[in-house]
Amino acid sequence: MKDLIAHISKQLAEIDIVTSGQLEDFKLTYLSKKGKISLLFTEFKNVPNDQKKLYGEEINKLKQQATQLYEDKKASLKKAGLSKKVVDYTMSASPLKIGSRHPVSLIRREIVDIFARLGFTVMEGPEIEDDWHVFTGLNFPKEHPARDMQDTFFIHVNPDHLLRTHTSSVQVRAMEQERPPIRKIFPGRVFRNEAISARSHCIFHQVEGLYIDTNVSFADLKQTLLYFSKELFGSDTQIRLRPSFFPFTEPSAEMDISCTICGGKGCNVCKYTGFLEILGCGMVDPAVLESAGIDSKIYTGFAFGMGIERIAMLKYQIKDIRYLFENDIRFLNQFS
Ligand code: DAH
Repeated sequence: MKDLIAHISKQLAEIDIVTSGQLEDFKLTYLSKKGKISLLFTEFKNVPNDQKKLYGEEINKLKQQATQLYEDKKASLKKAGLSKKVVDYTMSASPLKIGSRHPVSLIRREIVDIFARLGFTVMEGPEIEDDWHVFTGLNFPKEHPARDMQDTFFIHVNPDHLLRTHTSSVQVRAMEQERPPIRKIFPGRVFRNEAISARSHCIFHQVEGLYIDTNVSFADLKQTLLYFSKELFGSDTQIRLRPSFFPFTEPSAEMDISCTICGGKGCNVCKYTGFLEILGCGMVDPAVLESAGIDSKIYTGFAFGMGIERIAMLKYQIKDIRYLFENDIRFLNQFS
């Protein structure tokens, strides 16, 4: 017994505890029910009566010593603020989180890719435009409501300068800069003085398309848009053209695709019509060709324009356009 007490006492004096793991081990080895000190108490029963007092004191001292050591180490580890983990320098680093592309960029790239396969090239124009390229060159009469202050952000230093309300303005630039055949698409950001809601925003993106050559017909337009719709929304997609009006196309149409959710049967997304409107289009008005110096007796063309956010919302089933502008990581991570 005497030797055993001396032995444990020596161990306690030499012990070195630097991590919380070692502290736990210490507690188990010395202070737990099956620990070395409890075993001494068990042994104690066999000590002759006349020696009980002596050994009893010794064992109690040892227990105090161990408890004190445990409490001191625990406090100092806590103070150091680290339940020191052993650092493994050979461990490989955790992978870097990389960002994801924004859904608007994803759809824009997809649209550009699809039209590239049909020979369309990309051209961009300025966001700050003049009246000619946004309105007059596109055959908007002077008193047309789209020029109204409600829709257009004018730049006050120069009333002729404004933020473009559509990417059709780049059509006009293309027709001024190049001679037919012209086969281009114009992606970009547009601005409208509109209240922000779940369905509309004052800043959004469009892709405009223009094809001018000899003998371009409405059938070419239809076939181009059908190909595009099937590529973007799947080969079962059907399209529907409804007569419409735009100042720069004649005839004009709006194009619907069969509902991406119900496939045309009718659901609450398509409001039980089976179709979803996605773009405006038509044959370029001869007046537009002429004002860009293109002979409308030789050349004809078609044009179309669509909102990228709207297509992104349909494709990814996004219920509120504002998600596309808030840059909330929780939203964006879903596109990685
Ligand atoms: N610029 C129109 C808009 O923003 C969209 C549009 C309609 C473009 C018909 C076209 C077109 O090229 O032919 O609503």
